Amino acid sequence: MTLIAPSILSADFTCLGRELSAVETAGADWIHIDVMDGRFVPNITYGPIIVEACKRATSLPLDVHLMIEKPEEIIPAFAKAGADYISVHAETCPHLHRTLQQIRELGVKPGVALNPATPLSSIEYIADQLEFVLIMSVNPGFGGQKFIASSIEKIRTLSGLLAQKNPDAVIQVDGGINSGTIAAVAKAGARCFVAGSAIFNTPDYAQTIAALRKDAERE
Ligand code: DX5
Ligand code: ZN
Repeated sequence: MTLIAPSILSADFTCLGRELSAVETAGADWIHIDVMDGRFVPNITYGPIIVEACKRATSLPLDVHLMIEKPEEIIPAFAKAGADYISVHAETCPHLHRTLQQIRELGVKPGVALNPATPLSSIEYIADQLEFVLIMSVNPGFGGQKFIASSIEKIRTLSGLLAQKNPDAVIQVDGGINSGTIAAVAKAGARCFVAGSAIFNTPDYAQTIAALRKDAERE
C-alpha cells in the first residue's frame, strides 16, 4: 500500500479548491495540511478555517501536520474542522501519551512527527498508541528544501521498532520527497509520502503522482 499525500503548502492559494480537485483526480491518497505557528517553526501558515474549507473541496482524507506549540489547545478545533489524521511533534508535547489519547477521543487518527535530530526513543513507549509516525526529512517550516540523507537509516530503524511494537502503524516521510529520493525511503520502509513542490510545481499532477507511486513500488 502506497499513499501519496500532496502538501498544499506548495499549492496555488488563489484557487485552492481547484488545486484540491486536481490532485484528487490525479490519484492522490491523502491531502497533507501543514499548520505552522511562527514559534515552533519560523513560518506561519493556516488554521482550522482552511481545514474546514478543504473538507468541502475534497473527499480525500485530510492529514493535518501540526508544527505548533501547545497543540492540545487547538486540536479540538482541527477535529471539528474535519481532520481525519492529526500529527503532533514529539518536541512540542511533554505529555505525548495524553495528547494522542485526546486526538483519538475526538475521533481522529493520531500520529507523531519527529524532527531530523529527534531520536526514535521518544516514541518507543507510546508506539502502540499510533496510527502513523511522520519522519521529517527536512527541518520543518518550508517547502522545497533538500532531503536529509540520514532519514533513510532512521526510517529503516523505525521499521524494525514498529515491527515489534505496532506492525499496523504507517511510516510517513515528509520533506524533499521527489523522483530522486522516494525509492530509497520506500525501500527503507516508508509507506506514506508527503510531497509539496515535487507535485504542485509540475504541470501534470496525474503523471507526477503516477511516477512517484511507481518509483515507490519498484523493488
Ligand atoms: C515542511 C512541511 C512539508 C512541506 C514539504 O515543514 O512539513 O509538508 O510541504 O515540502 P516539499 O515536499 O516541497 O519538501
Ligand atoms: Zn508536513
